[in-house]
Amino acid sequence: MKLRVPMDSAARALGADEVVDALVAEAGRRGQQIEVIRTGSRGMVWLEPLVEVEIDGIRHGYGPAGPEDAAAILDGTSVKALGPVADLDWMRRQTRLTFARVGVIDPLSLAEYEAHGGLAGLRRALAMTGQQIVDEVKLSGLRGRGGAGFPTGIKWQTVHDAAGPQKYIVCNADEGDSGTFADRMLMEGDPFTLIEGMAIAGLGVGAARGYVYLRSEYPDAIAVMRGAVLTAREAGLLGRDVLGSGRAFDMEIRVGAGAYVCGEETSLLNSLEGKRGVVRAKPPLPALEGFLGRPTVVNNVISLATVPVIFEKGAQHYADFGLGRSRGTVTLQIAGNVARGGLFETAFGISLGEVVNDLGGGTASGRPVKAVQVGGPLGAYLPVSRFDAALGYEELDASGGLLGHAGLVVFDDTADMLAMARFAMEFCAVESCGKCTPCRIGAVRGVETLDRIAAGDPAALPLLTDLCETMKDGSLCALGGFTPFPVMSAVTHFPDEFARLKEAAE
Ligand code: NAI
Ligand code: SF4
Repeated sequence: MKLRVPMDSAARALGADEVVDALVAEAGRRGQQIEVIRTGSRGMVWLEPLVEVEIDGIRHGYGPAGPEDAAAILDGTSVKALGPVADLDWMRRQTRLTFARVGVIDPLSLAEYEAHGGLAGLRRALAMTGQQIVDEVKLSGLRGRGGAGFPTGIKWQTVHDAAGPQKYIVCNADEGDSGTFADRMLMEGDPFTLIEGMAIAGLGVGAARGYVYLRSEYPDAIAVMRGAVLTAREAGLLGRDVLGSGRAFDMEIRVGAGAYVCGEETSLLNSLEGKRGVVRAKPPLPALEGFLGRPTVVNNVISLATVPVIFEKGAQHYADFGLGRSRGTVTLQIAGNVARGGLFETAFGISLGEVVNDLGGGTASGRPVKAVQVGGPLGAYLPVSRFDAALGYEELDASGGLLGHAGLVVFDDTADMLAMARFAMEFCAVESCGKCTPCRIGAVRGVETLDRIAAGDPAALPLLTDLCETMKDGSLCALGGFTPFPVMSAVTHFPDEFARLKEAAE
């Protein structure tokens, strides 16, 4: 009997290891032969730990499973039976391109990776020139999935055209946004796809060395990525002679020390060089003067991990999905007070309401949804009246939102929006690198000003608006520059909560 249980850290946090122990112990008691394969997560976090039992090549799900369910799962009589996993609504409705193998394969089996389409993209890229590779990425319409949505092909072109024998690929795996976990899930569930994407990037721009800057808070991802790099090197996928092509690309995993601002690309590069993680002024762009002053591609995990499927299936196949200038798929991370949270990959264009109410099933508390924060701690709080907004970079921008890294955090009607605005300012004050005044001083003053609003000071609200304008216009990076988004969205969409306090004080 073949069983699969995720080794993804969300599943482990919910007891996946204990379920495996119980299955093995129960099978041992019965003298039954079982094989337990650890996989990534399918992304249905409310069903974790999800046990899959393979029968005639079809995987049947049981979840959320506990150790007490082991005997019934082995008997096929468990009340936690969900039917074939591929037929579940959450799976059927997705377009899994970047996450096609996550939850399906053993993350550290290169053989399984290849059997499910892995390395086909790299083999195709090896037959192309650097410019052809860059052109293919441009044609796909892929944009940076870290948050800013900058066209990946144009970034690669800048590095490709930059002079110099030494160039680098740096993967930003410092996924610091609250409510986001796509990078982690990808690295824990399908690490070879990131390695393959980085190798293709290296061939495209002429870089022979890559680094993954991975946050220390992700120990499982660090272990899986390190294991995958060793396997890839042994198999000749990395090294001086990539897949026997005579072309070189090698990489290593570097671990960050836990500062949110190190997710900002220039701060990340400083940290990678062993310096303090403070932001550098741009220009020069990292594409021209990046790691150790050399031309460097800095891309997010999901951007790089999407490259192999673009080369495997062709740029046009990828570009055929999406909406407007947002081509391909978006890896939504649904979290917060939501009945069904998890990762859902779909073509750009789905509405916010469909994600929260239909896929997410509304709040976990059963109370009405009040707001959704889209795009991490620097994203706006959108009220239910904006739920018709389509999830695309420009489309969400037009609705006053920010797609960012595509994390959605749901709040019910008990959420205190003034407290949420204060939290945003406090977060900025704590995480500020201190390099520029609007952020370093502004965020501290912002917390104080919100406290004055809470105390009913009528002069404080215009002051807050003014302060937010200054932070937006005068900050060096997105941390100070975008903190006004959650703050002012709370003021704009929930004015009563700010006014009521004022009236109460009067
Ligand atoms: P940005 O707009 O300054 O730059 C975007 C990217 O394009 C950078 O890599 C930049 O170097 C590159 N670029 C710009 N012009 C270029 C050119 N002509 N040639 C080559 N490359 C060029 O945005 P930034 O500050 O890098 O990122 C801000 C975003 O980060 C926000 O939208 C926010 O959502 C997101 N963010 C994501 C987090 C996460 O955990 N994933 C955490 C915090 C913020
Ligand atoms: Fe540093 Fe904040 Fe300025 Fe960014 S905005 S450079 S985090 S002080």
